[in-house]
Amino acid sequence: METKKLPETGEGISEAARILAEGGIVAIPTETVYGLAASAYDTAAIERVFSAKGRPQDNPLIVHISDMEMLREVAAKIPKEAEQLAERFWPGPLTMVLPRGEKIPASVSAGLSTVAVRMPSHPVAHNIIKESGLPLAAPSANVSGSPSPTKAAHVLEDLGGKIDGVVMAGDCAVGVESTVITLCVKPPRLLRPGGVTLDELRLVLPDIEVDPAVLSEPEAGKPVSSPGMKYKHYSPRCNVIMVCAESGFADFVNNESDCGAICFRAEVADIKCPHIVYGDEENPKTLAEGLFSALREADNLGAETVYAHAPKAEGVGLAVYNRLIRAAGFRVINL
Ligand code: TXA
Ligand code: MG
Repeated sequence: METKKLPETGEGISEAARILAEGGIVAIPTETVYGLAASAYDTAAIERVFSAKGRPQDNPLIVHISDMEMLREVAAKIPKEAEQLAERFWPGPLTMVLPRGEKIPASVSAGLSTVAVRMPSHPVAHNIIKESGLPLAAPSANVSGSPSPTKAAHVLEDLGGKIDGVVMAGDCAVGVESTVITLCVKPPRLLRPGGVTLDELRLVLPDIEVDPAVLSEPEAGKPVSSPGMKYKHYSPRCNVIMVCAESGFADFVNNESDCGAICFRAEVADIKCPHIVYGDEENPKTLAEGLFSALREADNLGAETVYAHAPKAEGVGLAVYNRLIRAAGFRVINL
């Protein structure tokens, strides 16, 4: 099939909204990553989203809304904390897991009684939801297992020919997916770190707990709090190994044979193997912005093994660390 390249203008937005209302699937930009959207009410369209991505059936989708009225349509109960979080962080990169409303089909949530909801701040995403009048279920618009798309070109690379359209907007500002928390357990729990940091969340949820799977490998055979935690993610074809090092990263890769590196800007002058810079160590926001592109480019380095220098697991760096350790399949070297 032909995948239509839609402009990010009013016309493109109207056409995307029309395709979605008619049961189509369209990749749309958000402030975090591009999402592959379908009407959250249309089970056939939802099925196409799973199959275009090759997504495991037990991994639920996030429902995107444009206002608080829509939240009442998709969630069965809205606790006081959800209102407070929405006030502070929406629209923006925060997803809340809430009890699922009866209008949302079970397949959106992979059969769970909960639903993940987020109100994106990207004006194009906002206007497409608003014009279609539909809550949009949208996972990241990549083939399952590959790095999430932060550019329209990444979406076409993965899903060109398999989806009805892509809205061709610019690069995503945050670069890693939204922070996911659940309000369906007590105390509330961080399931996936993202653009909204743990310190920011603590202002509203002082007792929030961090799920152990955020920083380390879930134990085999044990149930996980969020199905996405157990899958291999974000991986190029080469072997990625995460390296935690306060200093000495350049010396380490220079002593390894036939490898590549994903590194910080300040290290470039010292690194002798093929490498990609993904941002500045002191500014983890730039690392979040550059990580997924760097992982996609890693295969072009021509090395079988690529060592990636991990950021400090704090602030936005926690989200980058969480994605990198998954891209590395939990293979970590501590220098
Ligand atoms: O920033 C984002 O969140 C992007 C953009 C497009 O909005 N979307 C995104 O979707 O990252 P996806 O499908 O790639 O990741 C959704 C994550 C998965 O890890 C999934 O397991 C988790 O959210 N999730 C969804 N519904 C859930 C639920 N009801 N309970 C627990 N975890 C849930
Ligand atoms: Mg994803």
